[in-house]
Amino acid sequence: METVKNEYDAEGEAGQRGAYTVVRERRAANLKSGEILQRSPKKGRCRLHTIGIGLLGFGTVGRGVYRVLANNRETIASRLGAPLEVKKVLVRDVGMDRGIDVPPGLFTADPSAVLEDEAVNIVVEVMGGIEPARQYVLAAFAKGKSVVTANKDLLALHGRELFDKALDSRADLYFEASVAGGIPIIKILKEAFTGNRIEQVTGIINGTTNYILSQMSDYGVDFHTALQEAQAKGFAEADPTNDVEGFDAARKIAILASIAFNSRITLDDVYVEGIAKVKPEDIRYAREFGYVIKLLGIARETAAGVEVRVHPALVPCGHPLAAVSDVFNAVFVRGDAVGETMFYGRGAGELPTASAVVGDIVAAARNIVNNVRGLTGCTCFEAKPVRPMTAVETRYYLRLRVLDKAGVLAGIAGAFGNNDVSLAAVIQKTTGAVAELVMVTHRVREANLRAAVAELERLPAVETVANIIRVED
Ligand code: NAP
Ligand code: HSE
Repeated sequence: METVKNEYDAEGEAGQRGAYTVVRERRAANLKSGEILQRSPKKGRCRLHTIGIGLLGFGTVGRGVYRVLANNRETIASRLGAPLEVKKVLVRDVGMDRGIDVPPGLFTADPSAVLEDEAVNIVVEVMGGIEPARQYVLAAFAKGKSVVTANKDLLALHGRELFDKALDSRADLYFEASVAGGIPIIKILKEAFTGNRIEQVTGIINGTTNYILSQMSDYGVDFHTALQEAQAKGFAEADPTNDVEGFDAARKIAILASIAFNSRITLDDVYVEGIAKVKPEDIRYAREFGYVIKLLGIARETAAGVEVRVHPALVPCGHPLAAVSDVFNAVFVRGDAVGETMFYGRGAGELPTASAVVGDIVAAARNIVNNVRGLTGCTCFEAKPVRPMTAVETRYYLRLRVLDKAGVLAGIAGAFGNNDVSLAAVIQKTTGAVAELVMVTHRVREANLRAAVAELERLPAVETVANIIRVED
């Protein structure tokens, strides 16, 4: 059997033979790493294409994808049974020095040079934003090309439209890098855990806020100092709103919840609170109670519907998520068969994100090689209700500033009691005439807690309800 290295026919009849055949034939031919099997059509064997890749964007992620495809070209080709080749790259500024060796003429500022090129089989959208990314992805599907994207904004807003168009075109849409960067959590939920009823997905899915909270916790610095450090180190963007206000995590948990519960969850369904109100004293008190504070994305299925929320939360020090610090991400999943599992890694950055994108490119390419494109469509085949936040039941941490005098505690206890809120723990610290009162409740509906807080705020002895943070045990 003839073997060639990185030379292929431009056309092929891929698909007559499956992946097992590729493996068997490779073994029979005794191929070394990097050598590719060329199969002759005369003998009924299919010939393999070079699979053409068109990149939309060459920023942090695009450059990483190019590097991974170049560095591991032969390994990937051997595993796939066909080589991958970047044919065109769309950027805004074609003349910019990208600090990386690429063939002349690879860059273009004309989207049709990528989207209309017959040699491009897979379009990789790593430009970000909604428009024109959405139009380009739709144009790629219209041309029958598969799409890989890292764009959580696009998916969380237009997921249904994109999946419908992919299905119409019998093309694939892969999006692993859109959530938790290098952690392959989407494949785990869609494939490895497909035999489970997923009960809960809880994630630290924003590296910037995890870095800020870790700095506040480890060094006692305040939010603004930690944010400035995150910006100086290049973790947080110049405008950090999406990260610190929780919107980035909200998009990611919407995507994970949609997959976990087979029901389309959009950004509008997610209750969102950011970390800007977390103070060093909250972190200290949380520690006294045996907790750390993390920004969590939480998706849970209950008999009454799906809960989807992003907010800071007290996490018990012994919980695996409590140990996830710095810019790292982790996703904790509970399935009815598998039980509790956790996946940990880098949620952003050039190469970790590229790892996920290239995994998707290979998956899409494998479907082309085996002629099974368009079979891994949208998994949202149900329409489950989303529970309003007021119906959610959890425990709460509250920090109040109150006058330090007789009868104050009784009034506060009354406000809680009137609304069926039961206290589990209380700490009081006095500074002059004012006391800081810190409490953790038992489980209670959010509506009851809000009613109790409204009553507390009307008490003359309560100077302020300084913070309320949910407790996730
Ligand atoms: P980036 O560094 O800002 O790069 C964006 C690239 O897209 C640039 O090369 C830019 O061209 C090009 N581009 C943007 N708009 C364009 C337009 N209208 N026409 C042509 N080219 C355009 O972005 P990134 O950090 O790589 O992120 C890309 C995507 O990956 C985003 O959806 C992001 O949310 C997602 N993501 C990023 C990370 C991460 O760690 N960075 C992690 C997970 C997911 P020029 O270079 O010429 O300006
Ligand atoms: N800004 C995100 C984070 C990375 O800090 O995790 C891109 O999803």
